[in-house]
Order: sequence, then C-alpha cells, then structure tokens
Amino acid sequence: GMLGGAAGPLAGRRAIVTSGPTHEPIDPVRYIANRSSGKQGHAIAAALARLGAEVTLISGPVTIPDPAGVRVIRVERAEEMRDAVAAALPVDVAVMVAAVADWRVASTAGNKIKKRPGEAPPPLQLAENPDILKTIGHHRSRPRLVIGFAAETENVAENGRAKLDRKGADYILANDVSPKTGVMGGDRNRVKLIGRDGAEDWPEMSKDEVAEKLAALIAVKLSA
Ligand code: CTP
Ligand code: CA
Repeated sequence: GMLGGAAGPLAGRRAIVTSGPTHEPIDPVRYIANRSSGKQGHAIAAALARLGAEVTLISGPVTIPDPAGVRVIRVERAEEMRDAVAAALPVDVAVMVAAVADWRVASTAGNKIKKRPGEAPPPLQLAENPDILKTIGHHRSRPRLVIGFAAETENVAENGRAKLDRKGADYILANDVSPKTGVMGGDRNRVKLIGRDGAEDWPEMSKDEVAEKLAALIAVKLSA
C-alpha cells in the first residue's frame, strides 16, 4: 500500500516477533505441544513488514505459510526459541506472541520409550522453560518497546496486568483462550490492551485486524 515498504512509518526499524507453539520432546517420536496455530503472531509480523519494518519472525512448528517480506527462523523447543531471539537483538520492538511451553521434559529419552508388560506408565519429570519475554523485558539490550500476550481462561485483566509487571513489558495484549471463545486456532480475536497506566478493550475483530491495529500503535510509539 501507499504507506508500505521502504517509505513506511517503520522504515529502518527492526522487529522480532515470536509465534506458534513450541514442541518439547519426550523421546525421538513424541512431544508435548499446545493448540497455538501461529495465526496471530504471523499476522503481526506481516503487518509490521507492511509498515516498512525489518522483521525477524521466530516461529515454532506451524502449518500456515510464511508471511511475505519477513525473515523466518524456525525452531522447535523453547530453549531454541530463546537462543534465536537473543541472536536477533538488538531491535527496536519485540512482540512475543508464541505460546511457549511452560515446561519441558527434564531428561528426554534417546530412544523411543517402550511399554513394558506389567509395569506402570513412565512418569514424566518436567523442568520449567526459560521465560523469553521476561528475559527480553529485563535485557541489557532491551528493545525500546516490549510487547507480550497473556493467554488466560479466567481473570483476564488482573492476570494480564500481573504479567506486564512481572515480565517488564510495555504492553500486554490479554486474551481469553477458553475453548468457548474459539481464539486458539481460530481467525478472530478479542483482546484487552494493557499498558502501564491503563487498559482498553478492543472489539472482536480478525487476527489480521488486531495485527494492523497493533502495528499502527507500534509505529506511533516508536516515532514519539
Ligand atoms: N512467554 C515467553 N516464554 C515463556 C512463557 C511465556 O516468552 N516461557 C511469553 C508469551 O509469548 C506471552 C507472555 O509471555 O507473550 C505470556 O505468556 P503466558 O503463557 O500467558 O504467561 P506465563 O508467564 O507463561 O504464565 P501462565 O501460563 O502460568 O499463565
Ligand atoms: Ca504459559
């Protein structure tokens, strides 16, 4: 469009976007995952690129196509995503949309775990994954703007605000991911934008429209 590419309001700005789920291996053939499709993160990467930003999209395993005009780095595990994010710094803005698995399997099996007749199912020991958003929010090369999402099924506003503070973010887009909303995997989203001094409810719209609105906000904030 008229505002896109090299002449856009984000020309010369660098951005990181994380998107999709992470897969945490159990053994060579099994993993722990979640229902994230990557649609919202990929849409945000595309919208930032349309405004002229140089975008690195760091994505977990998804089935949707790569967005146009974006450098895509594919990862599987949370620890790989953290390393790819760190390697892409410094940037002007980071938008962490990935549904990073909170836990990984403490010690993955080198071979496929087998059933053993008469034995109990194998216990899965979990270890906490690194919090990528929190790391970036408190990083020595912290981007000027750090934005996260908050996936909630209850107390959306309160939990979103707590995440903003805990992770050192400038904004959190909090959304209700209860199955009844259809947000996980669906094409629409309804978010609450939580900033340091207030929150606003955005009406339900497509994930592309959420992306456009967020990219426009980022352009305004980075030009201030
Ligand atoms: N996030 C991250 N690294 C993690 C966990 C979350 O970068 N290991 C980011 C997500 O990309 C999102 C934000 O943190 O931008 C909030 O994720 P969410 O899962 O809602 O919050 P958690 O802190 O993991 O808390 P919980 O799942 O217990 O609600
Ligand atoms: Ca989480």
